[in-house]
Amino acid sequence: MNKKYYSPREDTSLFLEAIEEKNFENKKILEMGIGSGIIAKKCLEENPKKVVAVDKNKHAVRKSRKELSDFNNKKIIKSDLFANLNQEKFDYILFNPPYLPTEKEPLNEEERAWKGGKGGIEVLKRFLSESKDYLEEHGKIIILVSDLGDINSLKNYLEKMGFEYKLLAKEKLFFEKLSVLELKNN
Ligand SMILES: C[S@@+](CC[C@H](N)C(=O)[O-])C[C@H]1O[C@@H](n2cnc3c(N)ncnc32)[C@H](O)[C@@H]1O
Repeated sequence: MNKKYYSPREDTSLFLEAIEEKNFENKKILEMGIGSGIIAKKCLEENPKKVVAVDKNKHAVRKSRKELSDFNNKKIIKSDLFANLNQEKFDYILFNPPYLPTEKEPLNEEERAWKGGKGGIEVLKRFLSESKDYLEEHGKIIILVSDLGDINSLKNYLEKMGFEYKLLAKEKLFFEKLSVLELKNN
């Protein structure tokens, strides 16, 4: 990554493909980890009630604020996950998270975009542990995972947290398989 924020890649394209058929009209949407703003933009183009988007990286916040400046019904917040959010509930929460396994802490914003912690699922688990407080009862969470991560442990965690999941899209790259999952309360 030669930019200071995450530029769209295969995972971003797969995520966009997975949400292509979703109807976001009049919905409240939260995007965690906005990066360049491309996913939030797609949501904003569909007349949602509002989009709140978050990134811990100030360069991503700056870039996406610029990118989405034509839209009114949005708020872009610099935050470590939910830390700086108001207590409000969303119909959809989207997160294409840092998902590659490594136990080393990110050294900079570039590494933060892809270093998912132990088993590649630590950031995701931290996100999931708080996400129900921000999700409407009928709401859905959409996440991306890689088979390089500890998928079995993630599945156990989803079960423990009371989430059901279904596959929305998948893609096999030459070194990993990416999947986009939709979660809801069971
Ligand atoms: C894989 S990138 C996805 C970016 C963009 N949504 C896309 O699909 O192209 C993950 C994003 O999550 C952000 N991120 C990582 N850890 C975070 C945290 N604890 N809180 C908020 N954002 C975080 C990164 O800065 C990065 O922009």
